[in-house]
Amino acid sequence: MGLMTRAEEALKFYFNAAAGVGAPPRLQAAMAHAVFSGGARIRPQLCLAVATACGDDAPELTNAAAVALEFMHCASLVHDDMPIFDNADFRRGQPTVHKAFNEPLALLAGDGLIVMAYQVLLRAGRQHPERLLDLMDNLSRGVGLPYGIVAGQAWECETTADLAQYQRAKTGSLFVSATCAGAIASGHSPEPWAPLGAFLGEAYQVADDIRDVLGDVASLGKPVGQDTLNERPSSAQALGLDGAIQHFDGLIAQAAQAIPDCSCRDMLRQLVMLESERLVPKSMCESYRKKGLDLQGPKAKKSSSALAR
Ligand code: IPE
Ligand code: IPE
Ligand code: MG
Ligand code: MG
Repeated sequence: MGLMTRAEEALKFYFNAAAGVGAPPRLQAAMAHAVFSGGARIRPQLCLAVATACGDDAPELTNAAAVALEFMHCASLVHDDMPIFDNADFRRGQPTVHKAFNEPLALLAGDGLIVMAYQVLLRAGRQHPERLLDLMDNLSRGVGLPYGIVAGQAWECETTADLAQYQRAKTGSLFVSATCAGAIASGHSPEPWAPLGAFLGEAYQVADDIRDVLGDVASLGKPVGQDTLNERPSSAQALGLDGAIQHFDGLIAQAAQAIPDCSCRDMLRQLVMLESERLVPKSMCESYRKKGLDLQGPKAKKSSSALAR
């Protein structure tokens, strides 16, 4: 079974098991809308791939860890899209949760998914209590303070922030949790796997910034031009598009280099390279260069210190 199929099946199984019977139907529907709306599932795939490289001797726990990561990610997107944050109407080509339902249900759907992530881990981890504790700690680091998603989003409420620190926290941290979770679920030490997650995660946010300028709504399934509109610090603004593309290529090369020596090295390398091309296709860069469009570096410096809205 491919990584994507395994991730989708696990998401369905654990979502239904954790939702149980008798929950408010509109809340459950809002949570399902947040999860089953066609995401790339890169975080669970990374977790599954690393677990495979580490022998995957507890596949149920690996699946639960992958699902918990994706639930946290989906929760962060639901909250990120709300009017009080990025005020986005579309996500994954569909109306965002607060548009399809309403703001109270979006807030609760995000909250519900965060709790569900821990429930899924707890229920699957009874056979491996030590791994379970490490998985919960690992997930919490990716989401909480001081360096997780919540901290990353909160840098937007400060008057100054370091761009790399902001990007590593809001996006990179959950990628580190993803690679480390695959190792922990399989009884291996997570440390050798952290750099792969860190480089790929930072590359992911740099790509998101590039696509916010060069991408289109139809292929991204979400609004573009948001970083300028919301005055968010962005690699495209900070480095110019050429600089951002170069930075992205450098991070991808570092991610590929960071893959530990293992029997799945080629598979992991392929995953990194496929993601690189999916995120920032060569054709997109070529057509931008033909048009000669660019953003200037100085603008960036201004915007990276203009964090407060
Ligand atoms: C979007 O993440 C938000 C960022 C962290 C850049 P993804 O690009 O992984 O979103 P989905 O899950 O595929 O929709
Ligand atoms: C992505 O933030 C990271 C989150 C924690 C949700 P962005 O605001 O840059 O992501 P998109 O562009 O809305 O997907
Ligand atoms: Mg945002
Ligand atoms: Mg956003």
